[in-house]
Amino acid sequence: MKSMTTLIAGLLFTSATAFRPNQPFTGHLERGLEHRSLDRRQETGKKSLERVPLEVDSRNNGKTELQWLATITVGTPPQTFKVVLDTGSTALILPRSNCTNCGKHSFFDPSKSTSFSPQPALFQPIEYGTGADTVPLNQTGRAECEVVTDTVSIQGLSAPKQEFMLCHSYGEALSSQLADGILGIGFNDISAWDENGNFTYLPLLPNLVSEGQLPNRIVGLALGSGGKKHQQRGPEASIGGADCARYRGRIKNVNVDETLTALSGTFIVDVKAAYIGSGNNKQVWRNSTNDNKPLTPGASLIDSGTAYMLTPDRQTAEDLYLDISKGIVPLDDRGSWGASCATLDKVATDITFTIGTETGGELVEVTMPKSAFNLGEYPGKKGVVSGGIFSLGSSLL
Ligand SMILES: *[C@@H]1O[C@H](CO)[C@@H](O)[C@H](O)[C@H]1NC(C)=O
Ligand SMILES: *[C@@H]1O[C@H](CO)[C@@H](O)[C@H](O)[C@H]1NC(C)=O
Ligand SMILES: *[C@@H]1O[C@H](CO)[C@@H](O)[C@H](O)[C@H]1NC(C)=O
Ligand SMILES: *[C@@H]1O[C@H](CO)[C@@H](O)[C@H](O)[C@H]1NC(C)=O
Repeated sequence: MKSMTTLIAGLLFTSATAFRPNQPFTGHLERGLEHRSLDRRQETGKKSLERVPLEVDSRNNGKTELQWLATITVGTPPQTFKVVLDTGSTALILPRSNCTNCGKHSFFDPSKSTSFSPQPALFQPIEYGTGADTVPLNQTGRAECEVVTDTVSIQGLSAPKQEFMLCHSYGEALSSQLADGILGIGFNDISAWDENGNFTYLPLLPNLVSEGQLPNRIVGLALGSGGKKHQQRGPEASIGGADCARYRGRIKNVNVDETLTALSGTFIVDVKAAYIGSGNNKQVWRNSTNDNKPLTPGASLIDSGTAYMLTPDRQTAEDLYLDISKGIVPLDDRGSWGASCATLDKVATDITFTIGTETGGELVEVTMPKSAFNLGEYPGKKGVVSGGIFSLGSSLL
């Protein structure tokens, strides 16, 4: 998140974790794109998709779903881990057995794996701006990791030489979450750069494609509880294609913002408009510092690793909540907004965004339903709950 803000001017709504390797952006774009087209050429004639069952990390008696976890194994014999499927990053991150601040997790022990290699032994600090919680971080989190190599498997598919980040120190956000680590499924097929700025390794999905185990690196996420009929198998990721058993109708194609997406490795879409409400009952989300005109079109990071949405600044959140109810107020200095549970549930509303570009793909309206408006009790404040939209905290700017 921290460096993202310098990149993205204007509107930035994110609903995710920005776990991101800490390295310069410039200079690697071409190599990344080159690699991507290589993968594309290999997309034909391979196996079909695999369904990966997901576990939900939730609060509020299961009502607030925060992150979705897949099970992977690493090493020989296999050691098992739960990892967040994170569209907001591209690397695999796991805690090392000698870590003392990594929380209650399964740790990877390299000495117990015969297929482990400490190479390329690249030191890689990671900075992240949001975690699994419903309260924004008070400062940018940082983990200390090394890039190492071992066999990584997911749902019977195996990448024998997968480079990943093994961390001997975790920040607060990583150590307190349910997942042991993070599996980045972001856009880039690049996970790290060496000190010369050279591309160094393939993330798990493109690696499985290059091993001929997956037909492509498409991921479908069937999350949430959108009706019993379609949720009979519970939340799932489909890797190597979209699972037609999990949706109805036609898939709409929204182009990503190519430049910002290639630079960040995460999926960034243009946001054309934002509204309070949905359908025929929606009203424009006003910008009080600009004659109450609609918000300026901007860009948004789509990130499965974070539990809330972020506005680009405090004023934008204040404008929204004032239009909904004067009773919704800041809860802390990190960007949380909320009210008493009774107030928030009474005024809860759908929020709608128009995303995409006119120049390619489709313009699509997506709605955060009213049922997701209440994020549950604010930690330590009895009877007070958070709204689902936060201001980008000043500590992260
Ligand atoms: C754990 O091992 C790594 C890699 O050998 C090393 O860099 C780190 O300092 C160790 N950390 C602790 C807390 O012992
Ligand atoms: C941030 O929060 C963590 C735990 O909630 C606390 O240990 C740390 O001191 C806080 N840092 C700042 C700068 O307030
Ligand atoms: C890394 O990049 C530099 C500068 O582009 C180049 O001279 C060097 O050969 C590259 N090293 C490797 C190992 O590819
Ligand atoms: C609101 O308007 C101000 C003044 O024109 C502008 O600087 C700001 O970026 C706008 N904010 C949004 C979210 O559109």
